[in-house]
Amino acid sequence: MTYTPEEPARDADEVRRRHRANQAAWDEGALRYTEGVAAGIERLRAGRSSVHPVERAALGDLAPWCERAVHLQCASGQDTLSLLLEGAREVVGVDISGRHVDNARAKARALDLPATFHRCDVLDTPAELDGTADLVYTGQGALCWIHDIRAWAGAVARLLRPGGRVMVFDTHPASWLFDPEASTPVWAGVDYFAHAERSSGWTAQYIGDVVEEPSVKHERLWTIADVVQALVDSGLALTRLEERPDEFWNAFPSLGDEVRRKLPMTFLLTAERR
Ligand SMILES: C[S@@+](CC[C@H](N)C(=O)[O-])C[C@H]1O[C@@H](n2cnc3c(N)ncnc32)[C@H](O)[C@@H]1O
Repeated sequence: MTYTPEEPARDADEVRRRHRANQAAWDEGALRYTEGVAAGIERLRAGRSSVHPVERAALGDLAPWCERAVHLQCASGQDTLSLLLEGAREVVGVDISGRHVDNARAKARALDLPATFHRCDVLDTPAELDGTADLVYTGQGALCWIHDIRAWAGAVARLLRPGGRVMVFDTHPASWLFDPEASTPVWAGVDYFAHAERSSGWTAQYIGDVVEEPSVKHERLWTIADVVQALVDSGLALTRLEERPDEFWNAFPSLGDEVRRKLPMTFLLTAERR
């Protein structure tokens, strides 16, 4: 799949325009997730959590401290509902794609789970959620769809109750520097400090080609410093920052394991509202 570099969004209108475009693209991408709804319900019924082991190690048992977890960019809700298996008493999912939210609601309904899902831009989470989250959970391919990281951090801070924490486990921005098709690390021509791109369609190994004329989607690279500083400026205190070789999807199918384990593939951070 090829992409075209573009200027980072310079104002709020352009941010919103790109988010709306991504909504259309994700409604197409969500078609594949709809095929997996029944299997997802069965996994949850069997008590099989899809929370990543790296995330589980950082979160620990949620039961003693997490009344409400809010999952931003929750897609079809598999990880959101898995947070109940990890001990959260109630979960709230937020996603811009109506099709994803329909999938998530269908899973929760089938199992009668304490879950609510909102279809909205992450920047517009309903005010009724403000100050109610013990945990804001997000990542695994989330931040690249957000075109204003400072507004995102403000939304996170707004959701947290005092003492609440956010956890992000996402793609390491340095991994954007490498050509995803190459069998050795080759610079992809990406500007680490100001990269934005548009493309259409989905990679075969991720969601596949689901529609004939796919919508244009817009992604943005945020450096680790961009993310951390935005959270700190929104009033949160950083409590953990890790750079890791672990992956949550096979982003470099041609790169051998030995090389991959030497490169930063993901990062994990936690921050608290004191
Ligand atoms: C790669 S998926 C995240 C997967 C997720 N970590 C999970 O639990 O499976 C990215 C998600 O972000 C959502 N998204 C993209 N832009 C958004 C925005 N501005 N506000 C809310 N959700 C958004 C998409 O609809 C999609 O479901």
